[in-house]
Amino acid sequence: YGTQSVNELGHLTIGGVDTVDLAQVYGTPLLVYDIALFRERAIAFKETFKKAGIKAQVAYASKAFSSIAIYEIAKEMDLSLDVVSGGELYTAATADFPREKIHFHGNNKSYTELQYAFDEKIGCIVVDNFLEIEMIKEISEARQQKMQILLRVTPGVNAETHDFITTGQEDSKFGFDLKNGQADDAFLKLYNHPYITLLGMHCHIGSQIFETDAFRIAAEALMYKMIEWREKFKFTCSVLNLGGGFGIRYTVDDKPLAPSKYVEEMENVVLSMTRKHNYPVPEIWIEPGRSLVGDAGTTLYTTGSMKEVPGVRTYVAVDGGMSDNIRPALYGAKYTAVTANRMMAPHSDRVTIAGKCCESGDKIIEDAFIADPEEGDLIAVFCTGAYTYSMASNYNRLPKPAIVFCENGHDQLVVRRETYEDIIRLDVPLQKTGQEVS
Ligand code: LLP
Repeated sequence: YGTQSVNELGHLTIGGVDTVDLAQVYGTPLLVYDIALFRERAIAFKETFKKAGIKAQVAYASKAFSSIAIYEIAKEMDLSLDVVSGGELYTAATADFPREKIHFHGNNKSYTELQYAFDEKIGCIVVDNFLEIEMIKEISEARQQKMQILLRVTPGVNAETHDFITTGQEDSKFGFDLKNGQADDAFLKLYNHPYITLLGMHCHIGSQIFETDAFRIAAEALMYKMIEWREKFKFTCSVLNLGGGFGIRYTVDDKPLAPSKYVEEMENVVLSMTRKHNYPVPEIWIEPGRSLVGDAGTTLYTTGSMKEVPGVRTYVAVDGGMSDNIRPALYGAKYTAVTANRMMAPHSDRVTIAGKCCESGDKIIEDAFIADPEEGDLIAVFCTGAYTYSMASNYNRLPKPAIVFCENGHDQLVVRRETYEDIIRLDVPLQKTGQEVS
């Protein structure tokens, strides 16, 4: 994918930069982003809408990876931004991301977070629940300040036919139920409010989805509700936000579609239903996270100790683990790896790449096909750009890795490696009074 290649030294290169050099300069574990690939993905989503002549916003779902530098790239690419907390909003504001293109998500936004969104005059709050409606009303009335909103609904995509959403959307902590009248109640509470502008509806049906059916069903469900609201209340939605969830290829078993395929399915539903019901074509907004940054990211680790369990397997341990990538331990997520310093070496038998955390479950890849491992090898684990650093922890007090962006033969440090000083930054030693803590 992207600009990954192998140079004459047999080293993996990313964005035209030798990964062995990167490891020497910045140390490992190191998360390396191929920025050209991010740009390529962003363009692919945007171009598909442009071709169909549909007004759209492609919002980067930054829970996948949030940092000042990635927000700067998203800004350059003229993307919108999905943030889910005061912390992500603060990071975006620090990156001077255009506020009018920021959409604020979350199922339990605090009063303070909502006030912050008003302070920053962001583009849109995606309203999730009745408490939030009351808080937004109160804040907007007290400040006499306008705010645009979308209503997040759960369309109830049939879990039996779509087993990638196994819990079924109705049983979800997010949003207003579309079928039992909750969404209508929410609409009526907001409709015609002097400061709140209801733009339309939002749904997000799941993540790492490979088929277009679920998007079609969700889009149809929301369109039907929009048509109903027009008939009942003479209200026209101008925005239909269908969330993110577009799958990527972690291993050869994954068969994702091109970004354009998902978008085309949405366009087809919206265009045919608006035509049939003589409804003005709404803007379509989407929120890709994983599909923008997932395969743009590669983690570099250095190998250390090894252990053979005779006749069973060989463990090779790396200098990171579940602290920088919890997805294998949490979801049983699968990854692909190579030996970045010896790309031409023949594969070994299966080895298990283990992390260095004190847990047996801390394995990055159960059955990896890498070169016969030697101490000091550089292991590159692909597709680690989404939900890795953003979900990282200091478990075992391991410092979080550094992050580098590579493009056109240049590399740039965008998140520095944590130090031991960073690790204890927030600790407060006991006061030395000789008294017990009361
Ligand atoms: N929009 C909303 C409202 C979402 O909740 C999410 C993801 C997205 C967009 C972006 O979805 P994406 O395009 O990245 O699939 N930690 C899990 C994934 C959690 C997804 C949460 N919501 C993982 O590592 O697989």
